[in-house]
Amino acid sequence: MKYAKTKEVLNQLVADLSQMSMVIHQTHWYMRGEGFLTLHPMMDDFMDDVNDQLDVVSERLITLDGAPYSTLQEMADHTEITDEPGNWDHSMQERLAILVKDYRYLADLYQKGIEVSGEEGDDATQDIFIGFKAATEKRIWMIQAHLGKAPEIDA
Ligand SMILES: [Fe+2]
Repeated sequence: MKYAKTKEVLNQLVADLSQMSMVIHQTHWYMRGEGFLTLHPMMDDFMDDVNDQLDVVSERLITLDGAPYSTLQEMADHTEITDEPGNWDHSMQERLAILVKDYRYLADLYQKGIEVSGEEGDDATQDIFIGFKAATEKRIWMIQAHLGKAPEIDA
């Protein structure tokens, strides 16, 4: 099957971006402390980005005759991004560090997508992956800057 590995990564992203949207939503809801008034609305922007990526990735998969996951159960069964029930135990910094960890996972998955779509000659999907990887790394930079750290994209 043409583009089989590329389609596998696309559907993995469908599950992971769905989960990431929920994780960001939890951050939006379960944050307390310094910076709340700016970070709470900023999470809306983060969610918008991830939801837009989800739609593009899913529709690219359909364009390639694939079948994206489309139930919460399927997302939960296939995502590699871990979660935990909401609680008030995490500091603002800890919640942001969780987001960085999850964004790093997504950046690595986009990188894998770039490689397999390159091998399979699917330039159009590769172009999508490249743009979204850069956008994901930019989010990592922004949060790391807020935490007083270097981006460590290249670490
Ligand atoms: Fe809200």
